[in-house]
Amino acid sequence: MMAYFDGLLEARRQGLVSEHVHLGLFDTDSGQTLASAQEAMSLHHLHHLAVTAGAFVVDVGCGFGGSLRLLDGRLDGLHLTGVNVDPRQIEVARGGVWRSAVDWQLCDAAAFSDGRAEWADRILSLEAMFHFPDLAGFFAASRRALRPGGRMVASTILFGAGAEAASVAVICAGFGPWPHPAMSLTGLCDLARAAGLAVGLVEDLAHRCRPGFDWMCPPCPDKLTDNPVIELRRLFEAGTASYPLLVLELQDQAGGKTQK
Ligand SMILES: C[S@@+](CC[C@H](N)C(=O)[O-])C[C@H]1O[C@@H](n2cnc3c(N)ncnc32)[C@H](O)[C@@H]1O
Repeated sequence: MMAYFDGLLEARRQGLVSEHVHLGLFDTDSGQTLASAQEAMSLHHLHHLAVTAGAFVVDVGCGFGGSLRLLDGRLDGLHLTGVNVDPRQIEVARGGVWRSAVDWQLCDAAAFSDGRAEWADRILSLEAMFHFPDLAGFFAASRRALRPGGRMVASTILFGAGAEAASVAVICAGFGPWPHPAMSLTGLCDLARAAGLAVGLVEDLAHRCRPGFDWMCPPCPDKLTDNPVIELRRLFEAGTASYPLLVLELQDQAGGKTQK
């Protein structure tokens, strides 16, 4: 189980961290806290997801449920599903009051639509795919889950070809499981397309994540450290790690997008 969540779970229970577990999205103006940048990152994903009232929405790798909670507060009649492999996170996420119907699924990302087809309007996966062992299975499950006119927004962290291997090793050990450190953007998009999902938009948000490291760790010393946050910061600052957000839509058999 993801060891880096041990401390985060306790910090969340004490109210010391927000209900978003990701790097945050910063504007050029200063004055943003990490918590407000994290909300901005979730809202940015939700903007691309374009959810409407009454929709069936799935968040795969839902963490403490922060993005689902934002939707819950904004739209009526939603049917929400939070997917996670970690029962401790689901226990935290389900706490408090939810206005919408929420289904919590304890399973791998590739299994969230087993036995079901065409039941979801929108699928979100925010900064979680780097953990998934079976990415092809995850895209296939998403393709199966989506109704005609459905849409998916998924983001992750990728290492570039020039990323320092020793830093990558520290990051993968500290933030593991990270089963596919050599995955490229092309490889990721190919897997999505092979599952029948059209890649509508790709946005690299890495430069807007960088200010968040000031909240999370000291500046990078010249020498390699054993701290995964510092080594991730090193790669973001060197431009050898990216943070792609993908907007994916159903592809019909002719290769075009399905009609709404
Ligand atoms: C960096 S956190 C992001 C959490 C959440 N999306 C957010 O924005 O706050 C990565 C999440 O992916 C989940 N995860 C890891 N491996 C998974 C898997 N195989 N299937 C589903 N979720 C997984 C983790 O438990 C964690 O909740």
